[in-house]
Amino acid sequence: MSPIADKNVCVVNHPMVQHKLTLMRDKHTSSSSFRVLLNEISTLMAYEVTRDLAMQDIEIETPLEKMTSKVIDGKKLVFVSILRAGNGILDGMLAVVPNARVGHIGLYRDPKTLAAVEYYFKLPENLNQRDVILVDPMLATGHSAIAAIARIKELGPRSIKFVCLVSCQQGIQAVHERFPDIMIYTAAIDRQLDAKAYILPGLGDAGDRIFGTK
Ligand code: URA
Repeated sequence: MSPIADKNVCVVNHPMVQHKLTLMRDKHTSSSSFRVLLNEISTLMAYEVTRDLAMQDIEIETPLEKMTSKVIDGKKLVFVSILRAGNGILDGMLAVVPNARVGHIGLYRDPKTLAAVEYYFKLPENLNQRDVILVDPMLATGHSAIAAIARIKELGPRSIKFVCLVSCQQGIQAVHERFPDIMIYTAAIDRQLDAKAYILPGLGDAGDRIFGTK
């Protein structure tokens, strides 16, 4: 089965991804299993999100003769995690692209305005020469993703893609209203948000489930 691509959304419907996501959604799944599954899914998602990376030819020698062969320039790729749940995705992605650089953006939700407020921002230098893959397990209202994308865009990267595990139409729409060209990779588009902006059916609070904080 190939991923479903529609209007800058790619639903990664590979059976292994869907199987692992079902296990993650189950409330009986422990934090340690949740982390392992998230790590495994992230590796699988990394294959999809890196599918169209630019390649270059280099000259090498096999044991038998010289040849021209292709490589990707992993140094040009930056994974940016939206703290804290985004960190659960990093290791799986780095297993596929070990040379990538890593940035972090800390955002919290203002309890009155519900706006995303930045408390931490550290990205690699020379972002204008790099492709960014922004990661956060849940795309709910889209406020955090939009705030993070806006900040990253200020530094003029070559491209930005967004990877999440579970999304909903509202979040996808919000991101694409502001940034129509951002490609979103997700393992599922769920039904709706509840009154507290949790995704239904979702998997609960991704940060709490990764770190066992509830
Ligand atoms: N963040 C989460 O961790 N879970 C949701 O359902 C929505 C936002």
